[in-house]
Amino acid sequence: MLVHAIPTNTTYEFAADVRAGLTRPGQKELPSKYFYDDVGSALFEVISHLPEYGLTRADERLLRRYSNEIVDRVVGPVAVAELGSGSGKKTRWLLEALCRRQRTLYYPVEISPSALAMCERELGNIDSISIVGFEREYLQGLLEVAAYRQSGQRLFVLFLGSTIGNFDRPAGVKFLCEVRRILEPGDSLLLGTDLEKPSAQLLPAYDDELGVTAAFNLNLLARINRELDADFDLNQFAHVAQINHHARSVEMHLRSMRKQIVSIPAAEIVVEFQEGETIWTESSHKYSAEEIVVTAACAGFRCETQWIDEQWPFAENLLIVE
Ligand code: AVI
Repeated sequence: MLVHAIPTNTTYEFAADVRAGLTRPGQKELPSKYFYDDVGSALFEVISHLPEYGLTRADERLLRRYSNEIVDRVVGPVAVAELGSGSGKKTRWLLEALCRRQRTLYYPVEISPSALAMCERELGNIDSISIVGFEREYLQGLLEVAAYRQSGQRLFVLFLGSTIGNFDRPAGVKFLCEVRRILEPGDSLLLGTDLEKPSAQLLPAYDDELGVTAAFNLNLLARINRELDADFDLNQFAHVAQINHHARSVEMHLRSMRKQIVSIPAAEIVVEFQEGETIWTESSHKYSAEEIVVTAACAGFRCETQWIDEQWPFAENLLIVE
């Protein structure tokens, strides 16, 4: 696999984001994109196998069952770009279906070099595939992929796993508009979205009995200790998952168990926490199937088909650029 990597000052950016999030007035927050270092990515992989967390299995079930149908509705020849490919495991069914029809160029776009390497191991043996990885943020990667487009070739973009749910709703629409701006009429986007479901099903998915999601959340503080030389005492913070009915999301927070002071030398800050104060680390928004159609239209896409899992409400939405 060819990989386009760029040297970035990731520690500097991490420190700047931690400083901004923990010194802002009001609710302290940390961006959820920092969950995914090697430890966090491994913990997320475990989450996706937990009985309480049905999202990944629903996504995989739909892709396994409907890949041929999905690919039949994508007018080709196409090159495939996947935003946040992870290990690429669930993309296999789509790529195999497509490779039966045409020789396929697959561009995984990922900020994690280890995920790109896994992707190559997982998918490199499919017949008629060529993989070119982009170690980039989603939109920058997609821009570069689009620049590689050959004449007459369409782009088929994958944004799976309901990662869009980790944006707030306006940011989600803005993201879709930006993707649309990079694409051309006839290109398509397969968007995976987790659908609304009862709190009794949703809450345990983000607060599992084994405590894996708690470890995933706390790893963010452990990562700040490792990479920014901080002195967070992980025993003094507790994982919290709560439903935000107004935002139609599940929020994860880390609650300070006592009044305490934490120093983060590489971010040049010392932060005071009150007892009970929280750091907001993630929101996972849930959608209605109709809302996706309307949101897609606002961003310039026509929703061609939705495939919905009955066991764990989740939708794969095939969106076509108008
Ligand atoms: C990646 N993303 C869609 C997951 C979600 O469900 O929001 C991340 C996650 N957070 C806690 N558990 C899983």
